[in-house]
Amino acid sequence: MEAVVADRPLQSPFPAQALPSAGCEPRLLPHLRRRIESQFRARWENEWGGKFVTHGRAAGPDAVRLDGNDYLGVTGHARIVQAQLDALKRNQEFVVQSGVFQLEGSPASRFEKALCDWIGKEGGLLCQSGYTANLGLIQVIADPQTPVYVDSLAHMSLWEGVRAAGAVAHAFRHNDPDHLDRVAAKHGPGLVIVDSVYSTTGAMCPLEAIVEVAERHGSMILVDESHSLGTHGPEGRGLVAELGLTHRVHFITASLAKAFAGRAGFFTLPNELRPYLMCHSFPSIFSSCLLPHEIAGLHATLEVLRESDEARAKLRENTSRLRGSLTELGFPIHQGTEQIISLEAGPETDTLALRDALESRGVFGAVFCAPATARNRSMVRLTLNSALTDAEMSHVEVVAREIAPVVRPWDWPIARRQRARQ
Ligand SMILES: Cc1ncc(COP(=O)(O)O)c(C=O)c1O
Repeated sequence: MEAVVADRPLQSPFPAQALPSAGCEPRLLPHLRRRIESQFRARWENEWGGKFVTHGRAAGPDAVRLDGNDYLGVTGHARIVQAQLDALKRNQEFVVQSGVFQLEGSPASRFEKALCDWIGKEGGLLCQSGYTANLGLIQVIADPQTPVYVDSLAHMSLWEGVRAAGAVAHAFRHNDPDHLDRVAAKHGPGLVIVDSVYSTTGAMCPLEAIVEVAERHGSMILVDESHSLGTHGPEGRGLVAELGLTHRVHFITASLAKAFAGRAGFFTLPNELRPYLMCHSFPSIFSSCLLPHEIAGLHATLEVLRESDEARAKLRENTSRLRGSLTELGFPIHQGTEQIISLEAGPETDTLALRDALESRGVFGAVFCAPATARNRSMVRLTLNSALTDAEMSHVEVVAREIAPVVRPWDWPIARRQRARQ
């Protein structure tokens, strides 16, 4: 018998015109339909107007794209493309298998060594993505007896790693070493997890203070450098290196889908941990390795990034320029300082209005909402890169000036909270 909610049969929770179905799929569990109906349908229909919240209009050729993470503009770089093409031609006998089968001396292990030499760590492991890097590492270095201290704005993949380890996550207030100190005093030595630069706000972690607290409590520390590897530090070696903390940080992880503009992830690890980790980290055992042309492209990208001081300087210049002009116009972007700028309108309907105002004028950011942000703290995230021209930067500033009286950023909840604190 068909399950019934409020006396009507459980239809698909989505109106047929929004997602037309060919009618040939078997029926889903009533319990699943009920969950969608109660937890999602109102949001989809009322707040998002029956469309994916992350899908605005298509960006035309003249659009200013602030929705990607290729911070130093390496996509399509001739040396990188050539390295990929050469590898594709050369490696036609390559066997696709799990990472755990990769031998010493393979292109993957040579690239791992090059990354480690650059970052200043003795060992490291390539992964399929930044997500699996965090998950696969934390799954092994924590367990149900390890208290894990996680910054409340840390990336979701880090939280998922804690979950995979069966460990208890103790959140500490964002960028608050004193709060970490108090929480760690209660639960004892464990693992501290932070991002170097936070992916929703562009806030920089107070790393020195956090490392000091971790050391005082005898904890290990993991820093996710996804948004600082390539962009920060000498030759782009990252924020940990820039601050001279490399020898005090136990693990550095990174997505190579940001400044590397590839499809991979990486983490460092001490050599003494490698055999154990290789035999226990699920993504390296139960998922296949990167392909040779991907590794060749990433290896060439590393060389390009090392030489990119000019692009790093330009990225910093673009960042301080836009942060300055948005602040002057009344946009509350005080949460961050780096190349990620969040325009946190708050409720999703306000964020969609903001997105539409920007996109109709040719400026494309990315909509972030729950679960990527707290509920009612949704935002349009603008990510800057070094390839933005002066004309493009000026266009973004002109558009911001034009839309400010319409979207009224000074009335956003975050602006009100900031005023209340002053
Ligand atoms: C801080 C941080 N860590 C990890 C990831 C996951 O990286 P990937 O996209 O390579 O899986 C991201 C990407 O959103 C990120 O921002």
